[in-house]
Amino acid sequence: MNMKTLSPAAALKAIDAIRNSFAARISARMDAPDALAELEKVLGLLGEVDFSRANAEHLRASGHPVIQQLQQAEFKSGGEGVSAIFDAFLPLLDALPWRYSYEPRPDAPDIGERMAWAELVGPIAPFSSRKVCLGLTAIGPGLLYPRHRHPAVESYWVVSGTAAWTAEGITRHHPPGTLILHPANVIHAMQTHNEPLLAAYAWTGEVETLSEYV
Ligand SMILES: [Fe+2]
Repeated sequence: MNMKTLSPAAALKAIDAIRNSFAARISARMDAPDALAELEKVLGLLGEVDFSRANAEHLRASGHPVIQQLQQAEFKSGGEGVSAIFDAFLPLLDALPWRYSYEPRPDAPDIGERMAWAELVGPIAPFSSRKVCLGLTAIGPGLLYPRHRHPAVESYWVVSGTAAWTAEGITRHHPPGTLILHPANVIHAMQTHNEPLLAAYAWTGEVETLSEYV
């Protein structure tokens, strides 16, 4: 596969698209207080990140097989507030540092090839932080991202694709433009249908502890 490198400028543009939409979401005050407080926390922590220095190692595209699934997909983004994120990320799909870091699952041997995330801010990312993570999750069509949990608090911002999201045993279909908050250690899962899911995410709190299947 032709390995691309993500330019710091393109990564910053994508990060800014997420930051700007989070700021707009805060201004709109349409979400629950705990979700708004978390977005404010994310923006505050991003304000502490040194965006003048990018780690070249983490700007290199990983050549992850999820890229081929994404390249075959027809994306739609009709969600309020997410079109700028969609426009910033779509040209970068084959240049992002996608990774998947769970242990293998005998019941889903190819899962690590069909979903991945590209972290742009975090402990292992182009822009370094040990307090906040920011990136894009991609889940190929027709895939269950099984029940998992992590001590970090997680905000998801659906950019493309309507999937079934389960948290604390309750399942909802969330279209693009939906903001989803997973408090620390809440067990959650996602099931995609015909279309892949793209969702921006942020982690705060214990960001250096990996997510694990339960
Ligand atoms: Fe999560």
